[in-house]
Amino acid sequence: MAGTAQIGVTGLAVMGRNLARNFARNGYTVALHNRTASRTRDLVEQFGHEGTFVPAETAEEFVAALERPRRLVVMVKAGAATDAVIDEFAPLLEPGDMIIDGGNAHFADTRRREAALRERGLHFVGTGISGGEEGALNGPSIMPGGSEEAYESLGPMLETISAKAADGTPCCTHIGADGAGHFVKMVHNGIEYADMQLIAEAYDLLRHGAGYEPARIAEVFRGWNAGRLDSYLIEITAEVLAHVDAATGQPLVDVILDQAEQKGTGRWTVQIALDLGVPVSGIAEAVFARSLSGHADLRAVGRGLAGPTPVALPADEAERFASQVEEALYASKVVSYTQGFHQLQAAGAEYGWTLDLGAIAGIWRGGCIIRAAFLDRITAAYAKDAALPSLLADEQFAGELGAAQDAWRTVVATAARLGIPVPGFATALSYYDALRAPRLPAALTQGQRDFFGAHTYHRVDRDGVFHTTWSEDRSEEQQS
Ligand code: 6PG
Repeated sequence: MAGTAQIGVTGLAVMGRNLARNFARNGYTVALHNRTASRTRDLVEQFGHEGTFVPAETAEEFVAALERPRRLVVMVKAGAATDAVIDEFAPLLEPGDMIIDGGNAHFADTRRREAALRERGLHFVGTGISGGEEGALNGPSIMPGGSEEAYESLGPMLETISAKAADGTPCCTHIGADGAGHFVKMVHNGIEYADMQLIAEAYDLLRHGAGYEPARIAEVFRGWNAGRLDSYLIEITAEVLAHVDAATGQPLVDVILDQAEQKGTGRWTVQIALDLGVPVSGIAEAVFARSLSGHADLRAVGRGLAGPTPVALPADEAERFASQVEEALYASKVVSYTQGFHQLQAAGAEYGWTLDLGAIAGIWRGGCIIRAAFLDRITAAYAKDAALPSLLADEQFAGELGAAQDAWRTVVATAARLGIPVPGFATALSYYDALRAPRLPAALTQGQRDFFGAHTYHRVDRDGVFHTTWSEDRSEEQQS
């Protein structure tokens, strides 16, 4: 009998299960498969009423349940597990069929898998999916890579189950060939790390600089969420801060161990940015801040070091300071996005992807972790000028940062004075100032390199490559 399921999901842990339910709730017939068959049965038992599911116990049954061309979504742990599933299913598929990897895979793995499967006539669609469990069920932001041909068949289904932005546009678009979708998801996560770090620093400043308690800070964040910082992460921050621990009666944030963990996508973003030569200092500081927080031994040694103990500002100054923190947070956030989009631009050139940066900002408006009102503005900036070299070249963003800079400087300076670490705010401000600078001390760095290693330098007044024989005070042009 010919298969009837329009899509199949293998790997029914919480993300896979919710994605399968999302397809079914949208009227698609969904084939189900899981290594442990009891999970498949549980899903049908609990949620069978939500739509039409075709449970399969074996790989062969699962493949047979799918209509052609087959669309097979793999929701397993990134890495070896994905390769194992591909090895299991690929031999059962026929040319034109599609394997869709919805995990947080490294884009280089996706490129390798796509190339190998293409040789066998199969489409491999590395797909970024953001929004956690809730998003998978009710509408995530979806970032599919792979071929145009695969998107033609699969895209409408993904657009249907995706989140919708406030204007009704689906938060899903074809990102580009091979690993482009997973690359964009990775940068999304890098930006997520930076956003979270900046919010954490804002909290720390309000707590120890303004002297506010978590419940009051929750109120401040609620207020910010009604303005230009309106976003999912600001919204949940207010909820986390307002939460009281049932066991101790203390704010829960005071009971949670202050050591942040990571699964690795932020780290990948920075590693790849280093290879591409793109300064993503905001994302890098966020990754390092998580890493530093986890070095308990190092911190135990460091606690004895000299420095100011933060003393909260007087009440009247505290309120002004809180609004300056909002400005610093907004400005630093714009810088992180600027850096993330620079990385996307560089990756497009390096890997041959035509990335529509405005559309990417557009599909992050709903469903994903970094969803924010402000993404509309990024889309608008690229709509005005698709070749914008940097978001800071956009008049509106440049104007806003110009207006925020006094507050931004005050916040960074106050943090330094009080001894509150603000790596995210400080690096963002330094990036801004480095871009503004008419001259950078990189000239000195070049002089040093030439001094100790004859690495040569360029001059501002003449073309050519120069080397100075420093001991003889003699400079000459090098032959190329
Ligand atoms: C998303 C999230 C999701 C996840 C990451 C980050 O877009 O839905 O980014 O992919 O939460 O795993 O987790 P870490 O903080 O552990 O790296």
